[in-house]
Order: sequence, then structure tokens, then C-alpha cells
Amino acid sequence: MRITFTEPELPKAGALAIGILEDRKFLAGGGAADRRSRGALSRAMSASRFTGKPGQMLEIMVPMGLGMDRVVLYGLGKPGDIDATGIENAGGAVVGQLLLSGLRQVTFAAEVVEGAGLGVAEIAARLAFGAQLAGYRFDKYFTKQKPEQKPSLRQVVVTAKGATAAKAAYRPLEKVAEGVAFARDLVSEPGNTLHPAEFADRLRGLEALGVTVELYGEKQLAAMGFGALLGVGHGSVRESHLVVMEWKGPGAPEAGKPLCLVGKGVTFDTGGISIKPAGGMEDMKWDMAGAAAVAGTMKALAGRKASAHVVGLVGLVENMPSGSAQRPGDVVTSLSGQTIEVINTDAEGRLVLADVLWYAQDRFKPSAMVDLATLTGAIIVSLGHEHAGLFASDDPLADRLLGAGKAVAEPLWRMPLGAAYDKQIESPIADMKNIGGRDGGSITAAQFLQRFTKGVPWAHLDIAGMAWSSKAKPTVPKGATAFGVRLLDRLVRDHYEAK
Ligand code: BES
Ligand code: MN
Ligand code: ZN
Repeated sequence: MRITFTEPELPKAGALAIGILEDRKFLAGGGAADRRSRGALSRAMSASRFTGKPGQMLEIMVPMGLGMDRVVLYGLGKPGDIDATGIENAGGAVVGQLLLSGLRQVTFAAEVVEGAGLGVAEIAARLAFGAQLAGYRFDKYFTKQKPEQKPSLRQVVVTAKGATAAKAAYRPLEKVAEGVAFARDLVSEPGNTLHPAEFADRLRGLEALGVTVELYGEKQLAAMGFGALLGVGHGSVRESHLVVMEWKGPGAPEAGKPLCLVGKGVTFDTGGISIKPAGGMEDMKWDMAGAAAVAGTMKALAGRKASAHVVGLVGLVENMPSGSAQRPGDVVTSLSGQTIEVINTDAEGRLVLADVLWYAQDRFKPSAMVDLATLTGAIIVSLGHEHAGLFASDDPLADRLLGAGKAVAEPLWRMPLGAAYDKQIESPIADMKNIGGRDGGSITAAQFLQRFTKGVPWAHLDIAGMAWSSKAKPTVPKGATAFGVRLLDRLVRDHYEAK
């Protein structure tokens, strides 16, 4: 989607999107447009149930007295309730409505709202951000789309008094949207194309933004001692990889410790020898969504030149059954030296993360580590598709994450950790086993990870229920959500940047 900002003027073609306050109240510019149409807009409102509540929309075709093809009224609600997420949702909902409409252009008239917490530049920027996020499509594999199935909308114009300030406010958000799209592309890609080497290759692309990208293949990982990660990839003909992405932005503290972001990147999870049932197994192409979120965040941070020191690390493997696959009962030695009895080869994500977490803390001595993983089906049983599970060894870090999640509408719910859960993963033959039984399955998975954090403040986000969406939302089309990118970007912005 092309997005531009200009000073207020009425468009001559396409759609004009006008915000309406609760109880059908126009802002100044909308009121002027209503008068030019000799009241057609207010009549359209009173002839319908549109009252200006957030989420409401009303389309008016070829409005009389106005030059454009369509007017879309969208509800803003009460001025005091207007926030960034609400404005993004409005921008996203309008774009969602018009994407396939046949129109090529929509113009949002951003205006000052008395009594709102946001200024006009911020409102304009958030409308644009929502519009950009909603315009995402993954359609590269369609070869036979009919013209009416293809998006027609190409251009979003946002008009605002002080367009330059609006444009400046949008610049960092545009970079976040690029990070989101990058992550969505990775998550959407099927397992036959996005295997570990291809994933690593795409991460190499971040070098152009100034990110240092290091790639480790199986030979190096074996020499380094990544026994837990390599065991997972053993059954696959695709080579396993570790990718380390380091961003040290301008003005980032020279001496300070970095923030480490760690992602589970299982490019396809069959379950291995503990094979999954066929129904729904195709979903396991997105078992790398944690790694994609880390990659998308690195892209966003580097794109907007965040003045922070952040290291992203992703373990990329394919979990396949074969003659060379690891077996239930195998014992592997992790990078930490701790041994693991692999009871179930389908509990593979924690094996990958165990080595990557250990490596991250050992090499970078981070001030904090956050991992993201589509780790357990059990977290979906607990929290559905409304919250990701948050597990943390450190309360301030947990609170920062909860706050960031709330601010960007990527909500987290904190789950417990504790010694009694940890006991569930004791093994009769090794230092631990990789599953703790059905009860508290997400918690015992987190306990397992904690054993590889060596006391560094750490948080784990189990995003299994949030990585893929079967329902479209205003700024998140169906499919890959890129959950975590906006959250982590916000975490860095609020707590890890030199101000
Ligand atoms: N990738 C899955 C978890 C998952 C399930 C993600 C559904 C998204 C949707 C993970 O590797 C897995 O298979 N976990 C097992 C663990 C079990 C064997 C202890 C699970 O949740 O069933
Ligand atoms: Mn699995
Ligand atoms: Zn998995």
C-alpha cells in the first residue's frame, strides 16, 4: 500500500473516510462535507443504525454535491475514549472494507479531536499504520485469481493540518509495519519452501539495514555442543541452523548489556517419531512463528534505527520422522552440559530453545532474555486465542511485557512457575526429561526452559494460540498475525532505548 500525507483537501475520486464522534457528531471537516452534500451524510446516518460507536462503518455511494465516488463514515466513539489502538483499528477496518471494492484510493481526513488524548499528527499516523497493517496479503501462490478477487486499493492518502508532522510521526510506524509484514511472510510460507536454510537466507537480508547476521550450520553447532537442538533436526534432510542477529543502534549504550530475543524456529513440526495425527498437521508450518517474530522485530528496530542494543537468536530446525530421527527414550547432552531424556519427540521446541537460551546468556551476558515460541497446545486450552501465555523469572520484566502488550493490543496473561511443577520433569536416567505429563503442560514446558537461563532475568511467551488467526481483525487479516513484533518493538521503545 502506498501511503502519503497532504494538507486537508477533498479528494476528487476514490473514497473519503470521515471520522464521526458518538451520537453522530461531525468534526469540523466532516461537517463541511455534510453541508456540501446538503445533508446527505447526516441523512445517511439517521437512516441507519450508525451512531459513531467505535467499530461502526457506513458507506455512502456517489454522495451528491461531493466529487468522490464514495464516503465511508467510521465511528470514533467518545473523545475521551480515543486511543492509538482505536484509531489503528479504524484505519484498518476502512481499508479492509475497501480492499476489493474496485476503488484504487482512499483518503482519510484526520482532524483535531477536542478532548482526545492524541494530537492530529498522531491520529493521522495511526490511521496510516492501521491501513498499512490491514493491507497485507499473502497471495504469491495464486495463479488464477479473477480480477474481482484481486485487491484494487493501492493508495492511501491521509490529509491533516501539518502534514509534515504527521508524516514524521508515521515514519517509525512504517518500519514497524515492515517488520510485521516480514514476519507474516515467513509464517505464511509453506514448509517445503521455508526450510531452515531458506529462513536463514532471508535473515541475511537484514544486513542491508545494518544488522550483523551470523549463521551457524550443523558442523559448527556440533563442534559447539548444541546436542539438544541437533537431535531435533536429526531426522530431517534439511540442515539445522542457528542465526544470530545483532543490532546496536546509534546512541545505544556502549558498555551496557544487550536485550536478547530468542525464537523457536521449527520450520515444520511433524512431531518426529512421536508423530502427530494427520488432521491439522499442516498448521505446523507456522511452528516457526516465534523465530519470525524475533526476525520481524529486528527488522523494525533496525528500520527505525532504534537506539538500543538488541540481539535476536533463532534456532531453525525441521522435525521429521526418518531412519535417522531421534527416538523416544534417547538421551541428549545439551550445550549447557545438562542431559535430557527425550520421552516425546514432539516436545521439540523446548529442546531447540534450551540450547539457544543457554548460548544467548553465555555469550552475550544479557540484561534480560525474552523467548517466543509456539510451544504447547496446552496454552490454547488455557487461554484460547485471546492472550499469549507469559512466564517470567523476574517481576519487573514481566510487568514491562504486560504493559507493552496492553499498549499495542497484543495481550499477555501471566502464568505461574514453581518448584512443584519443576519436579514433574525429573527423569530416572538423566538430568531431566522433556515432558512433564498432561497436567500443567505449558507450565512444565516453561520450567524446562528456565533450567537453561542460568538466573538471567527471563521471560517466555507461549504464542501457540496467537500466531495464526482464523478470524480477520481490523489490523490483522486472517492467517499469520506476526504476534510479538509490535509488542517487542514497544518493549524496546519503552525500556531499552537511550532517550
Ligand atoms: N508445536 C507444538 C505446539 C503447538 C500445538 C503449537 C498446536 C501450535 C498449535 C509443539 O511442538 C508440540 O507438539 N507440543 C506438544 C507437547 C507435548 C508432546 C508434551 C503438545 O502441545 O501437544
Ligand atoms: Mn511438537
Ligand atoms: Zn513444535
